[in-house]
Amino acid sequence: MTMAGATAAPTAQMSSHTAGLSVGEGAGLAGRVVLITGGTAGIGYETARGLARRGAELLLVGRSVGRGTAAAAALDAETGRTAARFLAADLSVQAEVHRLAAAVRDATDRLDVLINNAGALFGQRQLSADGIEMTWALNHLAPFLLTHLVLDLLDRAAAVAAPARVITVASAAHKGARIRWADPQLRRGYHVWLAYKQSKLANLLFTFACAQRLDPARITANAVHPGLCASDIATANAAVPMFLWRLAARWFARSCADGARSPIAVASDPGFAAVTGAYVVDERPVAPDPAARDQQAMARLWALSAAQTGIDPAAAAAIGSATGGGRG
Ligand SMILES: NC(=O)c1ccc[n+]([C@@H]2O[C@H](COP(=O)([O-])OP(=O)(O)OC[C@H]3O[C@@H](n4cnc5c(N)ncnc54)[C@H](OP(=O)(O)O)[C@@H]3O)[C@@H](O)[C@H]2O)c1
Repeated sequence: MTMAGATAAPTAQMSSHTAGLSVGEGAGLAGRVVLITGGTAGIGYETARGLARRGAELLLVGRSVGRGTAAAAALDAETGRTAARFLAADLSVQAEVHRLAAAVRDATDRLDVLINNAGALFGQRQLSADGIEMTWALNHLAPFLLTHLVLDLLDRAAAVAAPARVITVASAAHKGARIRWADPQLRRGYHVWLAYKQSKLANLLFTFACAQRLDPARITANAVHPGLCASDIATANAAVPMFLWRLAARWFARSCADGARSPIAVASDPGFAAVTGAYVVDERPVAPDPAARDQQAMARLWALSAAQTGIDPAAAAAIGSATGGGRG
């Protein structure tokens, strides 16, 4: 994969899908195409909602077809446009990430924004269909693989309305985490929070490595922490007992709509157009844990992730050499 030569002016195929329809509230993203994983529930749905109101055309990804089609229909009903489409994929399965990328390619010939939002906690250690620990497979490897597979679509968008934006929904849970290099899949001593914290540190290391490899005039890469939000994430895979989560959510959590404010801002605000390699909390760049800026860890994680996803490490390196590198 290379960033070179992908600059022909495109026509977004999804635009014909919405041609002739009125633009919804806030036309700041009119005609812009946004791919959002986990856009069918929780923070992802509220993010999609905010972007739809600003005029974006949305591709929502999730596993449940019922939930996904209902989410797309609800967004269309709210905006009065045919602007949201659901694409089913289990992102913990690498073959499905490849199939998703092909479906995205069928739906659009450019992507203005990619939001790697889908994520989960797993109460018990589970293996993905590829034999990889689930938290690592879904929370980290899926964003790594999907971002690579759609880089050329992002680069095409940059030719029209530069730069395209890659946003990964990380978490303050990265603080105090470390990557278990000798055992990243936690075969020994698995714990739900250990796995989750490690995956969220990986989100930041990946984001900052991307920002260094990509030309920020063409593609930016940033991460956000949405805050503790009253979604179903903690109870979906028996990670936290229901009564505990309900108590915590009632006293400490914000709404998913509030949690969506940072991803919406980074995806749409002109003020973030030239920002890359940032960790954004409450709509402002803040300093992450120093472990997230560790250059050696970034390089090591990139090599490990490339090996685990079958991405050619030389091709990944070519992203940087083709663009002359970025800043982080
Ligand atoms: N909630 C919080 O307090 C909080 C705090 C910090 C960071 N975050 C981060 O915010 C992101 C969103 O979390 P959330 O709380 O909104 O979660 P959520 O309410 O559980 O929603 C998760 C979304 O991801 C989809 N999803 C889950 N597993 C998937 C898979 N294997 N393949 C494809 N899609 C999948 C779900 O749809 P299906 O079930 O239909 O697949 C749903 O749309 C995550 O990355 C999380 O780590 C959340």
